[in-house]
Amino acid sequence: MPWAQQFLFPPAPGKKNECQHEKGRLHMLTIRTFTCENQRKHCVTDTAAPRFGFSLDSDRAGAALAKAVLTVNGWTVETDRQVAIPYGGPALKPFTRYRAELTAVDDAGETAQTSLEFETGRLDTPWSAQWISDGAYSFKEKKVSPVPMTFRKTFSLRGKVKEAKIRSTAMGIYQLTLNGAPVGDDYFAPGFTSYKTNLQYQTYDVTGCLQADNTLTAVVAGGWAVGSFVFTRKNRVTADRQALLLELRVTYEDGSEEIVGTDTSWQVTEEGPLKEADLYDGEVYDATAETTGWRNATVENLRVSPAIRAAYGPAVTAHEEFSPITCTKVDNCLVYDFGQNFAGVVRLDIRGKKGQKIVVRHAEILNPDGSLNTAFLRTAKARIEYTCTDGEQTYSPRFTYMGFRYVGVEGIDVEDIHVTAAALYSDVHDNGGFSCSNDMLNQLQSNIRWGAKSNFVDIPTDCPQRDERMGWTGDIAVFSPTACYNFDMSRFLEKWMLDVQAEQLPGGGIPNTVPVQGYGFPATMPAMAVDWWGDACVLVPWAEYMARGDLSILKKFYPVMKKYVKACKFWAGLLSFGKKKYIWSTPSVLHFGDWVAPDVPKMQQWQARSKWTATASLCNTSAVTARVAQLLGKTEDAAYYKDLSAKVADAYCSVFTDGHGKLLNEFQTAYVLPLQFGMFPPETRTKAADNLARLVEKNDFCIGTGFPGTPYILFALADNGHADTAYKMLLNTKCPSWLYEVKVGATTIWERWDGLDENGQCPIGDDGTDKMISYNHYASGAVGDFLYRRVAGIEPLEAGYKRFAVKPLVGGGLTWASAWVETPYGRAAVDWKAENGTLTMTVAVPVGASCELTLPDGSHTIYGSGTHTCSCKL
Ligand code: BGC
Repeated sequence: MPWAQQFLFPPAPGKKNECQHEKGRLHMLTIRTFTCENQRKHCVTDTAAPRFGFSLDSDRAGAALAKAVLTVNGWTVETDRQVAIPYGGPALKPFTRYRAELTAVDDAGETAQTSLEFETGRLDTPWSAQWISDGAYSFKEKKVSPVPMTFRKTFSLRGKVKEAKIRSTAMGIYQLTLNGAPVGDDYFAPGFTSYKTNLQYQTYDVTGCLQADNTLTAVVAGGWAVGSFVFTRKNRVTADRQALLLELRVTYEDGSEEIVGTDTSWQVTEEGPLKEADLYDGEVYDATAETTGWRNATVENLRVSPAIRAAYGPAVTAHEEFSPITCTKVDNCLVYDFGQNFAGVVRLDIRGKKGQKIVVRHAEILNPDGSLNTAFLRTAKARIEYTCTDGEQTYSPRFTYMGFRYVGVEGIDVEDIHVTAAALYSDVHDNGGFSCSNDMLNQLQSNIRWGAKSNFVDIPTDCPQRDERMGWTGDIAVFSPTACYNFDMSRFLEKWMLDVQAEQLPGGGIPNTVPVQGYGFPATMPAMAVDWWGDACVLVPWAEYMARGDLSILKKFYPVMKKYVKACKFWAGLLSFGKKKYIWSTPSVLHFGDWVAPDVPKMQQWQARSKWTATASLCNTSAVTARVAQLLGKTEDAAYYKDLSAKVADAYCSVFTDGHGKLLNEFQTAYVLPLQFGMFPPETRTKAADNLARLVEKNDFCIGTGFPGTPYILFALADNGHADTAYKMLLNTKCPSWLYEVKVGATTIWERWDGLDENGQCPIGDDGTDKMISYNHYASGAVGDFLYRRVAGIEPLEAGYKRFAVKPLVGGGLTWASAWVETPYGRAAVDWKAENGTLTMTVAVPVGASCELTLPDGSHTIYGSGTHTCSCKL
C-alpha cells in the first residue's frame, strides 16, 4: 500500500453535523462523535449519571474548543470538557427515552450542534416477572452441559401497539424467537459476568414484530453459569439448571400498558431439535426432531442474587465472514481452510436427506497428511453434529463457538454443502491502525488484531479453542495497552473490571481468572496475591485511562488497586527481613514467573524466575498506584506508594545485581523489567541496557522473555541507546521471534514461540504444561504497543491524548510507517516517510488536543489542531 494519506483523512464516523450547510456556507467546526456511556447509538443504561463525551473536527488549523453546552432532561451544563461529562440533572425515570443536545463553540466563535438519544432501562424498578425453570429437570452428570431448555408463551394483544420491548436475562445463555423470527443478533446473552454479583439483562425492541396472537420462545443452554467450564470441566457452578427471567412491556396507542412476564403459565421442555450445547464441545442438532413434551414451568429460587442491570458491556455479534480458500478430501473428510485463524462459527448450507448425519470438527492446524490436528484442544470436542431433514437447509450454531482455521466435514458430498464461517467477538470498534513498508510487520499487526478479536468474546480470554477460554488476568494485564490502541475497549474493559472488583478476595488478592467460574486459583495458591496476573487490577484501568482520559475509572477502581498492592507487599515481605522484605520470595510454585519464556524449556523454570518478575511487578504496580493517587488528589497515598516503589527498586538492584548494572543471574526479562520501570539508578542504567543488548545479541536477536518481559523488551532496548538491537529483534525471523511466526504462516499470535516448526508441525514435547499449545493467544502480541509508540511514534503524554507525542523511531530499514488513533478528541494520525536521506512527516491533531513533535534531528515543535507537514535530514 502506498505511503501516506491512507489513514489521515477518512470520513468521520460520527453523525453528520446538522447545521453543516446552514445559510449555504460550510461551517468549519463539526461534531465528529457524540457518545453516551461510550456508545454512539442505542445506549440503554441503568446508570444514574450517564457520562457524555464528544469529539470535533475543524478545517481551521489551531482550532480549540471554547465551550460546550449540553442539555439533557431540562438540565444544562456549560463545560470545556470533552470526556466523561457526568449527567447532573434531576433523577432519570426508568423506561424513558431522553434526548441529549450538544452545542460546541470553538475559539473563533464557530458553532456546531448535534444530539443523540439514549434510553434508561429498569433503573430500580423491581421485576414483576419471576425466574422460571423446569422443576422436573435435574442433571447430576459431571463435566457435561445440561440439555438445552426451551420456554414458550403464547399470548394475544388487546389493541394497537405503540411500543413493545423485551427485557430478559438467564442463568445459562439464551436466544429468543418471536413468532418464528429470531430476536436480536447477539450471541451468548446475557454475557459472562461474575454471576453472584453482576448479571446483565438485554433490551430488545420488538414493536414491529408483534401480531394479534403471538408465540415467544426462549432457548436456554448451559453456557458459563450452568454448563461445563474451565479445564476441569466443572458444571452447575452458579445454578443447578437453566432459568429465565423476562418481561415484555407493551405500551398501547391508548397509553395503557401490559406486561407479559415469565411465570408458571409459561411452558418448558428439553425435547427439541437442539440436543446438546456446550461452549467447548459444540452442538448436536437434529432438524428432524419436533419440539414436544411441554409442561408448565416452575418458579426457580436461584442460589445467587446478583444486581441485574441493563447490559453495560458490548454484545458478542457476528463480524467478518469467511469463505474457504481451499477444500481437500482427506479420506472421508472434506477439509476446508478459511485462510485465517479466528473465533467463531460455521454456517452450513446443505442439500440433505432426512436422517443424514453431518459432523463438523474444528482445528487450528493440520497433520502432515492434511487431516485435522486436534491434539491441543485437550478435552474440548469442538464438534458439531447435525441431522438433516429433506431438502435445502441452513445450520449455524448459536450456543457455542470455536477457535479454528480449518474444519473437517464428514457425512456429505462436496456438491451438497456450502460451508462459510463468521467471526464472533464483542462489538469493540476499531480505534487505531498501523502499517509500514515491511509486509511482515503488517502481517504481524494483522495477527495481533486477530489474536485480540478472537479473545474478546464477552470477557478477555486467553485462547478461543481448547478447554480454557477463561478470563486469565495476566494475559490482559500485559496486552491492555495494545488492545487500547487498536480497539475502543472502554465498555468491554469496564464491564470486566467490575467483575475483578467483585472477585477480589478479602485479603486483596485477585483470582487468576475472572470471572472465577469454577477456577480462580490453583490449589497451591488459594488466597495469595499473584504478581502480574493480579496486576491486571492496576494495569488494565491504567491503560484504559491513558487511552480515553476518563478519571472516573481510576476513581472507581482505586480502592481495588490499594488493597491489591497492600496484599502484594504483605506476601512479598513474608518471612524476610531488611531489604529482602521487598524481594518477593514466596515459593515459585505460587507464581507464574517468566511464563512461557522460550529460553528455558520447562514450566518450573519459568516459575523459578518469579523472584525477579514478582519483585519488579511490585515496583511497577506501586508506582502506577502512586500516579493514580496523585491524579485523585491523594497526595499522602501518592507519597507512600512512590516510596514503596523506590524501596522495591533499591532492593532489586541491591540483591540481584553487582551494583554496577550487571545481574548476578542474567536473563532477558530480569533486565527488561527494571529498565522499563526505571528501577536502575541513573549511573548503572546504561550499563544494564548494554548488558541486555549483549544478551540479546548472544541469543541471535531471538526472544527470551515470557509474559512479563515481552511487552517491554523493545522499549527497554530502544529507549536506552539500543534502537538497532530493538529493530533487529523485531525484524528477526529466526525462532523464537515475532516474525518467525509470520514466516511460517501464522495468522494470529501463538501462545508458544515455537508452536510450529518450518514444516508446520508442533515440535513441543511433554514439558509439564499438559499440551498448553494454542495458536491464538494474544499475550505476546503486546509488542503492538511498540509498533504504535515507537515505530510510528505516537503516544499519549496526557490521558486521552489531550497532549500527545509524535517521535518516530526511524530504523530497521523501514521507508515509511503510518498510524492513526481515534482519540476521545478526534483522530490523531502520523505518517512518516524516509527517502533520499530526508524524513517527511505529516501529523493530524484533533481539535482540543496538542501534539509535541520530535524529529530525529532533535528539533521539537508543538502543534495545535490541524494537519501539519514537516521534514528533516536523516
Ligand atoms: C493460559 C494462560 C494463562 C496461564 C497462567 C494458561 O493455561 O492459557 O494464558 O495466563 O495458563 O498460568
